[in-house]
Amino acid sequence: MSFKGKVAVVTGASSGMGAATARALASAGAQVNLIDIDKKGAEETAQKTGSEIFIGDVSNSEFCDLTIDSIVQKQGQVDILVNAAGIILRADALETNDDNWKRIMAVNVDGVFFMCRSAIRHMVNKKSGSIVNFGSIWGDVASSGVTAYCVTKGAVHQLTRALALEHAEDGIRVNAVAPGEVNTPMIKAGRDKPPTGDELQELANATIPIKRLAEPEEIAEVVLFLASEKSSYMTGSIVPVDAGYTAR
Ligand SMILES: NC(=O)c1ccc[n+]([C@@H]2O[C@H](COP(=O)([O-])OP(=O)(O)OC[C@H]3O[C@@H](n4cnc5c(N)ncnc54)[C@H](O)[C@@H]3O)[C@@H](O)[C@H]2O)c1
Repeated sequence: MSFKGKVAVVTGASSGMGAATARALASAGAQVNLIDIDKKGAEETAQKTGSEIFIGDVSNSEFCDLTIDSIVQKQGQVDILVNAAGIILRADALETNDDNWKRIMAVNVDGVFFMCRSAIRHMVNKKSGSIVNFGSIWGDVASSGVTAYCVTKGAVHQLTRALALEHAEDGIRVNAVAPGEVNTPMIKAGRDKPPTGDELQELANATIPIKRLAEPEEIAEVVLFLASEKSSYMTGSIVPVDAGYTAR
């Protein structure tokens, strides 16, 4: 798959699946722009991708607009947008306070919406573009103890479908990946005690048909397929990459 001549933007590019996607796009020839709130991680990714870095919070719509506008001004276009920035909250409904609820909605839902809207404003002029959002298995099936996170990922799935319909005739495709449990810092985040390797394997044995976590690169492969012309007949699709988790 070649992305030569394509301008890509990846949010959440400092870590995990965003970083893996940015590396894979850069290796396939794309000019990749990295967006993240974490400067140090973005600089590490950029060492491998030779990318321009934009540090900021995707829940701030002005930041999203200014960043996309400046990329288009300097690089001429945005062909591909990957929205991987996200946070998790490991709390059931009664443990979720107003601030935590608002923050996860702001990052996981507002952030994806603002980035899509900023990019689509330019993509409609070019009559082309491909957007890949990060949903989750927990956007389609629920789990206990992650109420707000499940809600945000359900919203991302519906945003993906709605935007796909609104822009199908503009040459813009909008799809999402719905990963299962992936070996990134998020798998340990928000827990009282970070799980050991043995504990993660026990989790995999108990819940994942293939009985192992995914590596971020395995998800990035699917993201690149959705971003590329190889998936030209796909829009509004939510693609599970979950080792059979949601096949039950
Ligand atoms: N790890 C999993 O098991 C898993 C499973 C399904 C879906 N997901 C989703 O995949 C995406 C990537 O997750 P990951 O596992 O690579 O996580 P990660 O924690 O490794 O990376 C998330 C990145 O998002 C950035 N970020 C967080 N808040 C931000 C903000 N307000 N503005 C800009 N950047 C921000 C972080 O700094 C980090 O670099 C997320 O949307 C996550 O919800 C993860």
